[in-house]
Amino acid sequence: MVAIDGPAGSGKSTVARALATALNWSFLDTGAMYRAVTTEVLACGVSPDDVDGVAAIASAAVIATEPVVRINGRDVDQEIRGAPVNQAVSAVAANPAVRAAMVSRQRAWVAAQTRGTVVEGRDIGTVVFPNASLKVFLTASLSERARRRGDEGATSVSRRDDADRARAVSPLRRASDAIVIDTTGRSIDEVVKEIVTCLKTPN
Ligand code: CDP
Repeated sequence: MVAIDGPAGSGKSTVARALATALNWSFLDTGAMYRAVTTEVLACGVSPDDVDGVAAIASAAVIATEPVVRINGRDVDQEIRGAPVNQAVSAVAANPAVRAAMVSRQRAWVAAQTRGTVVEGRDIGTVVFPNASLKVFLTASLSERARRRGDEGATSVSRRDDADRARAVSPLRRASDAIVIDTTGRSIDEVVKEIVTCLKTPN
């Protein structure tokens, strides 16, 4: 299993998906899970800061991330990328009960796979799979990350990063044994090749 973590717009989803395709492994986008819970919270009219209300929604939620993102059967593939979700997701993801509910689903998903796995998020190498065979921490300059996020804008991207780094439970940080790759100005292909080389090189 390869764990890929990093801030918003660092290239995690794109690189992780391309890596999984190159290896013919399964891929899990854990950010999509936190985003899906956030759409359900908003759809139910619950405040993202209502700790117990949000926790109840997360623990009852049935979530799929492939081929489209669904929560409780509802296709939220487009909605999870919208501004209301960008605005609320970091508060939802800081809720310890939400994290516990998502982490157990992530571990169960990996246990059920018959192939290798690529899992991407914020806490995969540090908390969810500390024994991952390879941990990668992707970074990029803020201007490049904001450019990749397009409509979201630099202010929202850096606000989410700050919230993700500052939270008490499973903050965004590099695992001490993760390799760091700065993706600024580099192609997806180059980054994928670098990770494949690391996988082949015994450490
Ligand atoms: O695509 P982007 O990198 O902007 O974000 P994402 O991976 O879709 O994650 C959205 C949000 O979910 C992040 O800002 C975090 O607040 C949260 N998240 C998390 O807390 N833990 C994870 N393993 C993945 C995402």
